[in-house]
Amino acid sequence: MAAGGGLNLILLGPPGAGKGTQAKRLEEQHGIAQISTGDMLRSEVAAGSAIGRKAKAIMAAGELVPDEIIIAMLSARIARPDCTSGFILDGFPRTVPQAEALDVMLGEHGLTLSAVIELKVDDAALIERIAGRFTCATCGAGYHDVFKPPKIPGHCDVCGGTAFTRRADDNRETVTARLAAYHRQTAPILPYYAAQERLHSVDGMAGIEDVTAAVERVLDGLGGDVTKK
Ligand code: AP5
Repeated sequence: MAAGGGLNLILLGPPGAGKGTQAKRLEEQHGIAQISTGDMLRSEVAAGSAIGRKAKAIMAAGELVPDEIIIAMLSARIARPDCTSGFILDGFPRTVPQAEALDVMLGEHGLTLSAVIELKVDDAALIERIAGRFTCATCGAGYHDVFKPPKIPGHCDVCGGTAFTRRADDNRETVTARLAAYHRQTAPILPYYAAQERLHSVDGMAGIEDVTAAVERVLDGLGGDVTKK
């Protein structure tokens, strides 16, 4: 693998495809940083910052935050020291201009993209996945009512916390708008990365463990220094 700066990955897929679930596993397995632009924006909203105030209504409507805001945020993030050994982009890029800006940023930092992994899923399954999702309010560990419930009901597996939260944009109406935005604005990125011969597609409809195994097979196929912790 000729990736400058380590293993640098993009996880692509519609809302609920499992990007966050798999990104967390890659972070633990390979010791690389998960960068979720959705999480970064939710932190800005919670902090009431200028970015958060602009993003709040856009996110609640299921639409995309303007490229210039996201690109500036991401550019500052990948310059941080924890990205030197590699990173997983979860939720970025989401438009062709964001993909083009990422290529410029990577060039400026002397970094190379190792692979773009698309999680392929059926739209119909996504509503169920998103409607059942919740996280631990204390440590942020992710769960699902049906697919990934806590081992002891009402208690977080990781920290034992008993308070859980659901995202404001995880309702049927907003999910429908988020899916439409994915097909209209994000799916056109797929041919962009196919043309760069970096695109790998994985069946995101399989169980969580099987998706992880398929992602690891993609990484094995890259050869070179794909380190595991
Ligand atoms: P963001 O936070 O990125 O949300 P998203 O893309 O809609 O993705 P999700 O987090 O909903 O889903 P996921 O694919 O991570 O699935 P997960 O692993 O949680 O973005 C939110 C908003 O921020 C956007 O709408 C936009 O407004 C804005 N934004 C963010 N980035 C932007 C950008 N670059 N440009 C402009 N705007 C931006 O899984 C879902 C559930 O399913 C979980 O409960 C999980 O346990 C379960 N699950 C996962 N995998 C499986 C499986 N294989 N089988 C069964 N269940 C599974």
